[in-house]
Amino acid sequence: MAEVIKVGLLGLGTVGGGTVNVTQRNAAEIARRTGKSIQVVTAAVRDVTADRICDTDSLDLTEDALSVVNNPEIDIIVELMGGTDLAFDLVMHAIENGKHVVTANKALIALRGNNIVKAAEEANVMVAFEAAVAGGISIIKALREGFSGNQIRLIAGIINGTGNYILTAMGDEHRDFSDVLAEAQALGYAEADPSFDVDGIDAAHKLTIMASLSFGMPLCFDRVFTQGIRDISLTDIQMADEFGYRIKHMGIARRTDAGVELRVHPTLVAKEHLLANVNGVMNAVYVDADAAGPSLLYGAGAGAEPTASSIVADLVDVARRMDSSVAYVPTLGFQADQVEDLVIVASAAFKSAYFLRMEVTDQPGVLADISSIFANLEVSIEAVTQKEPPRGADTASISLITQLTDEAKVITAISKLESLSQVAGAVHLIRVEQF
Ligand code: NAP
Ligand code: HSE
Repeated sequence: MAEVIKVGLLGLGTVGGGTVNVTQRNAAEIARRTGKSIQVVTAAVRDVTADRICDTDSLDLTEDALSVVNNPEIDIIVELMGGTDLAFDLVMHAIENGKHVVTANKALIALRGNNIVKAAEEANVMVAFEAAVAGGISIIKALREGFSGNQIRLIAGIINGTGNYILTAMGDEHRDFSDVLAEAQALGYAEADPSFDVDGIDAAHKLTIMASLSFGMPLCFDRVFTQGIRDISLTDIQMADEFGYRIKHMGIARRTDAGVELRVHPTLVAKEHLLANVNGVMNAVYVDADAAGPSLLYGAGAGAEPTASSIVADLVDVARRMDSSVAYVPTLGFQADQVEDLVIVASAAFKSAYFLRMEVTDQPGVLADISSIFANLEVSIEAVTQKEPPRGADTASISLITQLTDEAKVITAISKLESLSQVAGAVHLIRVEQF
């Protein structure tokens, strides 16, 4: 009979329930691949009486998470409760107890991963987090192992399923933001605090992890420039469409001569680019590497079973390697003593093209005044459109796209535009990327 690897879950919600379902349904196939039988035997929850999406007959349920971490029978702890305090304490305790850890918790890895990785390497246990980025896409393994012969130059991903679900429904069905967010929550895609999804924090957690694996740098979440999608309006989506673009919420990490750009923000992507056609809860990560060239990894970004697919892949990996005498794959992809601090480029030094939209009073000469601001800053305008004011309105909408330029120049242009008497209110900026 195959050796049994016993797994204890911390959390049995969307991802925990999916993990039990996948390990039970695919037990025979998993054992054929692993040479061992992977069995979830216990799970910690807040409320043992609550309804579950999986069969719990073969599980010991407990409200005492520490008892799972301290259980000497358990080989691998899977942390699926979320948060960065209790989850951190439990993971560190598991590591001290010599247990391997699998987690889907991107916040935990992005914020406290440097300590976790160090503790795991000292204790000679594995910490695996494939499910933390882009749901069912095997992007961690790809960056850490598949691209290990490359210098990675750029990663650009649609890495928040909830945000992409919202933008897609707003664009295709003209639906209201809050109505679509409620639907994404009901489908189990959103974070416990959905502002993490819509304000870009979740994408910044994921970008932090991908940048560390790609460039061999420590996890540095607090250095990521982060903007969410709350300010994206139907007008922005329609104007972008007229210029030939779609708006996607993206995480971008780019290595330049100046350092590393780490940024999460809404982005105009040309309609014909594959990334512009990643819709709904789907995610995609575009990787540009010197030897492999451009690659695109695409798949479901959230939800019970796609995420469980990545959790189980990590369980298989750990089960295969746990009694090997060969050193484990370094947790962040680079040898621990080779992980180095890199310069993080300030947002004013970003280079991009920019979509700007502003409301102007409909007077002769306004377009000339706007153009001269850009000309004086040596910023070229690629395209411009003016919408006639609706009947009875006294302002018209002007949208333009610049050519590639320095963000500092665009910020200066915006402050000059907003000081023009003909420009009403704030000028709206969205970055444009040509991948
Ligand atoms: P969830 O449905 O809210 O499940 C959380 C689970 O943790 C619940 O079973 C809850 O117990 C349990 N829990 C919370 N606090 C606890 C405590 N103090 N002691 C014991 N149990 C506790 O969350 P989820 O969507 O599965 O997400 C879990 C993690 O996976 C998060 O880190 C999330 O960011 C990440 N993730 C989620 C997805 C996704 O699509 N949902 C995808 C990738 C990664 P009760 O059920 O009794 O309340
Ligand atoms: N809330 C996250 C998302 C879950 O919507 O992408 C997957 O990480």
